[in-house]
Amino acid sequence: MVHQSKKCSVGLVFQTFLAMLYFAYLVCEVLMNETDLEQARKRIESLRESINRNNYLYHVLDSPEISDAEYDVQMRELRTLEEQLPLFVTDDSPTQRVGAAPLESFSAVSHFKPLLSLANAFTDDELGSWFNRCSKLLDGRTFELVCEHKIDGLAIALTYENGKLVQGSTRGDGYKGEDITDNLRTVRSVPLSVIGDFPTKFEVRGEVYLPKAGFEKLNRERAEQKLPLFANPRNAAAGSVRQLDARVTAGRALDVYIYALGYAYGHTMPMTHWETMLYLKTLGFRINPNNRLVFTIEEAKAYYRLWQEQRSSLPYEADGIVMKVNSLAIQDELGDVGREPRWAIAYKFPPLQGRTLLKEICVSVGRTGTLNPVAILQPVVIGGVTISRATLHNEDDILRKDVREGDMVFVQRAGDVIPEIVGPTPDAVASPTRSSPFSMKGKLFEAESNSPRCPVCHDLVVKPDSEVMYYCPNAACPAQVEERIRHFVSRGAMDIRGIGEQLVALFCNGGLLGDVADIYALREKREELIALAGLGEKSVDNLLFSIENSKTRPLSRLINALGIRHVGEETAELLASRFSSLAELSATSGDVLLGIPSIGAKIATSIEAFFANEDNKHIIAKLEACGVNTKTEREPAVGGQLLSGQEFVITGKLESFTREVAEERIRALGGQAKSDVTKKTTCLVVGMEPGGKLAKARALGIKEINEIELISIFEQAQKEG
Ligand code: IVH
Repeated sequence: MVHQSKKCSVGLVFQTFLAMLYFAYLVCEVLMNETDLEQARKRIESLRESINRNNYLYHVLDSPEISDAEYDVQMRELRTLEEQLPLFVTDDSPTQRVGAAPLESFSAVSHFKPLLSLANAFTDDELGSWFNRCSKLLDGRTFELVCEHKIDGLAIALTYENGKLVQGSTRGDGYKGEDITDNLRTVRSVPLSVIGDFPTKFEVRGEVYLPKAGFEKLNRERAEQKLPLFANPRNAAAGSVRQLDARVTAGRALDVYIYALGYAYGHTMPMTHWETMLYLKTLGFRINPNNRLVFTIEEAKAYYRLWQEQRSSLPYEADGIVMKVNSLAIQDELGDVGREPRWAIAYKFPPLQGRTLLKEICVSVGRTGTLNPVAILQPVVIGGVTISRATLHNEDDILRKDVREGDMVFVQRAGDVIPEIVGPTPDAVASPTRSSPFSMKGKLFEAESNSPRCPVCHDLVVKPDSEVMYYCPNAACPAQVEERIRHFVSRGAMDIRGIGEQLVALFCNGGLLGDVADIYALREKREELIALAGLGEKSVDNLLFSIENSKTRPLSRLINALGIRHVGEETAELLASRFSSLAELSATSGDVLLGIPSIGAKIATSIEAFFANEDNKHIIAKLEACGVNTKTEREPAVGGQLLSGQEFVITGKLESFTREVAEERIRALGGQAKSDVTKKTTCLVVGMEPGGKLAKARALGIKEINEIELISIFEQAQKEG
């Protein structure tokens, strides 16, 4: 019995020992996992911190410290870690800018403090009246003003709690807006969390906008996809930000400038608008560097005139100058009238709309054979630019707007965008002698053959049932050939500087160019070029250099340059990332192409048809024979990489070549050519009549060279190459 009980207790002890061992193992494992997890968490945090900081340096301060490639590596690592550990994904992680799942509708947001609008002034007198009214209300006390660009985008409010973005909304009617948080999260210059010493809860206000370049790219892509175009960057920004599917917003290059603080708790705030902006900048918000503090109304007017002249050089659309009383105490004193503050005014730039006579509607032939109606106008000056032609999209558009030949029409210009006809004036509509409605068939009708024909090659036109456009089906139509060459050399394509619209026309008419590949044979016709174009030897050599240099463009550019119908910059990039060469792409069937996400039947069929065409095969063979890069890997640039890691800025005029060509050569040698002097600039090239960049470079102690020294760098590279 005793023995038995002993045996039993030994067994118990042993079992307990085993259980303890197992428990210790479990504890160890948990502990080990915990340390692993802790390490991963720390790494995630440090990656986020670095990415946010670099985002801030790039988007807000405009002075990046790391390369795009380094940034991508960090982003990739963070994404992988978050995929493995979804527990650690937070709303303010930089990976969350990709766009959330689509919403059914936007929910309403009540603004805690209403978002006011601005009273307008259109003349110096009206501005003067506003200023005098303020002075009078202040019993003649002087006050400072802050002048800012009035950016043409969409007003938004961003709310932060404990440093994190919790809500983004539209202005709506000023009292109630829409919750567009998911969309605004995708905008790189909207901080998902702020830095430094921030109020516990606060709201900032600003303008979300689409820069001109992004707007033009978006419209180019929409034109290719036969989607209706946005009339101006403002509509495009509003359309982009009010997308129920935030992934669409993420694909648009939107930006934001913050121009006001709505409210703030838990922090003492500056006493002036100017200092508030400086403070918000320290928190990580993007503040327009063109803002200016002025002390007199004369200075404010000078600021207005400066930017009225230079508005077209801005990367965004601005429709006026906002002038705000700087002191917040004085702002309070002046108060509001209705929905407008008395302490601020928008001094609008003259409108970019005008009225003129629509002399005729002509038809031009596009590179894919589209027959595009073009309005020929009595020349009219709009915003300092003379307009004599405008687009009219297609026959449906003309009929919808009801514009007819001989009408007085309103014409609109938005920055660098192609002018367009808004519609006929009421007088024109009421005129008893008005011409009949436009008809494409009527316009192209040729009596001899009793049918509508291409105005250039006179082939019979076609109109697919599903499309609004008429086409010239003849790929050899001289107008199509010329347009294809223009597209091939354009900026988004092979980017051959120095060969513009006029030279393409001249070379085509002179028999030097019959297809895009002939561009690379021009170097054998140097003398003919000089004689035909009336260009100096230096210009022709610069042009030939640009042509040679374009041979090393990446495959994506070449695919875009070929002008395949429905294939724009974005699709070209997608294709270049999937295929290692043009040969591989051309050998791929439409069915296989269809398997690629974002390639639909229309694009796949078009690509297949393009590469099956004998003329296209011949052109591609010619391009390959000329040494144009047709593979994913970039060929080494001409002259080696003598300038790699160096950043050049050019100021003033150069004598031996245009700035574009000099920049092109710098890039060809592995250097970077930038337009602004920053801390990262390694060398300033000083030409004749240098601008403000020289002073800035001197202040930063940046090396300066003159044009002769730049040329000797190029010569040295040539010798070494
Ligand atoms: S201040 C109370 N500053 O212009 C003052 N507005 O009606 C509120 N806008 O849609 C506006 N740039 O979004 C201010 N630098 C700027 C602006 C600006 C553009 C827009 C604003 C609003 C409209 C004013």
